[in-house]
Amino acid sequence: MPDDKNTLTITDNRTGQTYTLPVEKGTIRAMDLRKIKTGPEDFGLMTYDPAFMNTASCRSAITYIDGDRGILRYRGYPIEVLAEHCTFLEVCYLLLFGELPTETQLKDWEYEVTHHTMLHESTKKFMEGFRYDAHPMVMFVSTVAALSSVYPESRNVHDPVIRMHQIKRLIGKVPSIAAMSYRHSVGFPYVYPDNDLTYPENFMNMLWKMVEPKYAANPVIARALDILFILHADHEQNCSANAMRAVGSSLADPYLATSSAAAALSGPLHGGANEEVLRMLDEIGTKANIPAYIAKVKDGKCKLMGFGHRIYKNYDPRAKIIKWTADRVFEVTGHNPKLEIALELERIALQDEYFIQRKLYPNVDFYSGIMYQAMGFRPEMFTVLFAIPRTCGWLAQWQELLSDPEQKIARPRQVWIGHETREFVPMEKRSPAPVGAR
Ligand code: CMC
Repeated sequence: MPDDKNTLTITDNRTGQTYTLPVEKGTIRAMDLRKIKTGPEDFGLMTYDPAFMNTASCRSAITYIDGDRGILRYRGYPIEVLAEHCTFLEVCYLLLFGELPTETQLKDWEYEVTHHTMLHESTKKFMEGFRYDAHPMVMFVSTVAALSSVYPESRNVHDPVIRMHQIKRLIGKVPSIAAMSYRHSVGFPYVYPDNDLTYPENFMNMLWKMVEPKYAANPVIARALDILFILHADHEQNCSANAMRAVGSSLADPYLATSSAAAALSGPLHGGANEEVLRMLDEIGTKANIPAYIAKVKDGKCKLMGFGHRIYKNYDPRAKIIKWTADRVFEVTGHNPKLEIALELERIALQDEYFIQRKLYPNVDFYSGIMYQAMGFRPEMFTVLFAIPRTCGWLAQWQELLSDPEQKIARPRQVWIGHETREFVPMEKRSPAPVGAR
């Protein structure tokens, strides 16, 4: 129980009663409000918070964000430091186990994940069933869910050994699914994983190997992909992590929960934004059209995609690292002319009162698409590239959820705004409902 200073005193003006609630880490417990009642029949006070603008749904020790200062840390380590010194699989270990691995631990971890990259042949056949022009993200979401049929033991979510086995499988298999969804969409035969290669190299192998007997990955592109994976690995309680936790709280298996999280990621306001940024840059076309586009955004006719964030009210630290990485990639791939438009768009937007007042800065998606395109990816693949590393974050959030004794099935309340009990109206006496009626 916190000391007296760490409390909140509330006077209910409906009854004149005063209540003292404990304040812990800047929060009060919503359930403490229940005792604030107007009488014994009253249900008790609730909070109304559509879109979770000011509600913590869990206590977490995985990812920390200070949006005002543009800080992002995994398990206490700044993202810039991890991007500079670690590999993606090292960061996965950190997110899942809470500590950076020793050399031996990392070797074992890499070995185990690498030996789970192969997909069951039935999964391959499942993927072959998609239409020739299926969106790769839709294939990704569906195929991850279909893995549940291959690994039915995954339903034992309370068994930590079984849980860890599925975690390794999922981290190992998502690049294979992503690469197959790409090969399917371009009509190329699927490529099997190569266990001699690192995680990003193997992904490149499954994406781009043609007739050569052994795929040789360009080290600059492989490192850039690994950095992008690190930057996208987790981002605390965002829309998809919330989907993972909500679905996971019903004790659904991790394949189904991960698939739901990936579905949440696919939307244009979340991970789908990187694809939209490229479409926007195409629509703008030349630098000369930027002021007219900004005017359209300010008129509320469209959004500046890749700008703004619920939490960051400062430059997204990931966007800075991506800009730096993009320069290295362009040295190999050649310049992407869209970068010029993006840089000018950013320059103009950051000087404009509309964006300054609303604290709208480039987010992670603003520059990632330009780099992905330079690497040879079509926009349809961008969100899949986001989903690969985020799978690790979702699984870390899922593990934390299942080991938290305070968590139960997620079940929000509602504020009822509908009718009280109505008298039934027989068919012949009904009149058509007005257009737009709920
Ligand atoms: N372009 C123009 N205006 C914007 C933008 C934007 N990109 N983002 C926010 N605003 C305006 C918004 O219209 C509102 O203005 P007003 O106060 O006049 O009504 C104000 O800024 C506050 O915005 P909000 O919609 O209340 O903010 P939110 O926290 O609900 O939304 C967001 C956050 C990321 C959904 C939103 O900024 C957005 O739609 N951005 C574009 C899509 C995007 O880039 N998404 C990727 C996010 S980062 C990666 C990820 O999460 O997956």
